[in-house]
Amino acid sequence: MKRVFSGVQPTGNIHIGNYLGAMKQFVELQETMDCFFCVVDLHSVTLPQDPKSIYEHTLDVVSLYVAIGIDPFKSTIFVQSHVPAHAELGWLLQCNCYMGELNRMTQYKDKSKGSDSVPVGLFTYPTLMAADILLYDTHIVPVGSDQKQHIELTRDIAIRFNNRFGKTFVVPEAQIKQSGARIMALDDPSKKMSKSAENPLSRITLLDSPDQVKKAVMKATTDSEGHIRYDEENKPGISNLLTIYSEFSGMSISELEQKYEGMGYGAFKKDLVEVINSSLENIQQRYRKIRNSDEIIQILKEGAQRAETVANSTLQRVKEKMGF
Ligand code: ADP
Ligand code: NA
Repeated sequence: MKRVFSGVQPTGNIHIGNYLGAMKQFVELQETMDCFFCVVDLHSVTLPQDPKSIYEHTLDVVSLYVAIGIDPFKSTIFVQSHVPAHAELGWLLQCNCYMGELNRMTQYKDKSKGSDSVPVGLFTYPTLMAADILLYDTHIVPVGSDQKQHIELTRDIAIRFNNRFGKTFVVPEAQIKQSGARIMALDDPSKKMSKSAENPLSRITLLDSPDQVKKAVMKATTDSEGHIRYDEENKPGISNLLTIYSEFSGMSISELEQKYEGMGYGAFKKDLVEVINSSLENIQQRYRKIRNSDEIIQILKEGAQRAETVANSTLQRVKEKMGF
């Protein structure tokens, strides 16, 4: 059976970009593949985090995983820091990766821009991500398009290691959706929707109230043309909203263009609010049921055990190859 690995950082504000770009795929993949879904808490501290919120945000993400339909009996759900092999392989891969390669990572360039005290971990983060993936002999990594470059680096590291030390790692592939892989900010469709943007109306989180969703959608930046049609270049705002509508409703973009032919942005946005809210309502209902349950703790305990078994055996293989 093919292996799948992916992760979400416990940094709060899990938004519909995270969901449509990555997490929704997790639910589909678990039916036919052996899936490991991680809460990557070690990644989250590459930028300062409040110690009081990391664990709470970790439980939020785990609860959201279950609430969107990840079945802990079909998939392994676990927390990165519960499995020490991640940090250990991360180190070994740092020693098999070059400064030049990490220097080329656009996410690092974006996140470090304008700061005069950049944590070393922000720079080496892609090698830890490579370790996350390679530990599970992963074939497929479902992610949003912003992670494409990091998966390519992971492949390069795996191939180089295999050439130098003999076949050790499975070389993984990114799975990036045709549509929804890059949901844009609602207030500025030239940027991707993000957890950390200051304006709360720039995103819709999975835990937003119906009123918050309404406010964000109704305020979303559009254009003055007045026609609902998909044109990423000239109509990035409407195109983004069409993508979101399509991904939540299952209707194609062209079906939506037909449905709203001759209608104004107001009517379109009103319907979109309904579509988003009805999906979020289901997720939030399940979320509330489990967020404070013992079930979550049990899931993480069993998940860590299952993950550790696979991860430790890969780490052992790597250490033997390297001569430890
Ligand atoms: P973020 O990038 O929001 O800080 P993570 O790093 O935890 O969140 O990413 C979790 C997943 O969500 C990754 O697979 C990432 O590619 C995806 N993702 C993040 N932002 C978006 C977006 N705006 N549109 C689509 N997918 C996204
Ligand atoms: Na990301």
